[in-house]
Amino acid sequence: MEKSKEIVLSGIRPTGFLHLGNYYGALKNWARMQYEYECYFFIADWHSLTTHADTSELSQITRRLVAELIAGGLDPEECTIYAQSDIAEIPELYLYLTMLAYKGELEKTVTFKEKARKQPENINAGLLTYPVLQAADILIHRAHYVPVGKDQEQHIEMTRNFAERFNHRYGDVFPVPKAFSYSEDLVKIMSLDGSGKMSKSEQQMNTVYLNDDDDLIIKKIMKAKTDQGPVEPNSIKPDYIQGLFTLLSQVSSPETIEKFENDFNQCRIRYGDMKKQLAEDLVRFIKPIREKAAALQNDPVQIDKIMAMGAAKARKSAAATLMEVRKALGFKYL
Ligand code: TRP
Repeated sequence: MEKSKEIVLSGIRPTGFLHLGNYYGALKNWARMQYEYECYFFIADWHSLTTHADTSELSQITRRLVAELIAGGLDPEECTIYAQSDIAEIPELYLYLTMLAYKGELEKTVTFKEKARKQPENINAGLLTYPVLQAADILIHRAHYVPVGKDQEQHIEMTRNFAERFNHRYGDVFPVPKAFSYSEDLVKIMSLDGSGKMSKSEQQMNTVYLNDDDDLIIKKIMKAKTDQGPVEPNSIKPDYIQGLFTLLSQVSSPETIEKFENDFNQCRIRYGDMKKQLAEDLVRFIKPIREKAAALQNDPVQIDKIMAMGAAKARKSAAATLMEVRKALGFKYL
């Protein structure tokens, strides 16, 4: 199939390792898009500095994420994979965009307010301008689509505004990008205690990582929250039970899913049996990913090569955009 010329871009912050929520919420879609669009996927290591100032493990985490993204389905020959900090063109575009972003709109961004509440001792300017840096990430490749979850939609809306302001003031340089997902199959993976989305940096026992070994996966699933089971036929499932069924729906066979759905609806479900089956099916799904990621991590030369190749492709695209930006702004002294 001929790829669309349209450009897709997304990023992930290196603040933890990949888990099932990242896989079903992002990576699986990215892996599908790489065959249909020109795709850029990157590790947003500069962004992580806004909340995680300690850089001692940053490069190690970044490289491990690259390995996990590839193990989870990205193909460095089909898409461009790189670290944000390897692209020096991004901060120059960020600088121009900061002059188009207003203090008021940045202050009322939901993610800013949340993070400011969480770290009142460190409300740094980078935190405030986080969406501007994100806009630079997106606009530097003149992306059309940005596959992100709900929590990022406001940032994409802001990116659209910055792009429109730039185009209006200096001339048409940027396509106005859209948030995007194959919505039918964007499943929300719940934390194993049913208390919200599965998350990267908190609640390690309630999150299943792509790196978890077989025993740990089994242990986590067997410990997941359940109850006595429904007493009325066809009851609505509590969140923590729905979460387990959602996982089942992703990794188990249609017969298995149907069996446990029926058992639930007829009030004869045995959660112990369901968890055992779910754990077994999850192990089968995660094992090859974990092993491929480990093999890649044991081959740092290969990861270096992949990142260098991605950075070279990304820089080429970024430099071309920046030239247009400078032309539009009238910066061309040399
Ligand atoms: N803010 C995103 C997140 O926390 C990560 C990110 C940074 C990103 N730059 C981006 C996502 C550009 C999409 C496009 O998940």
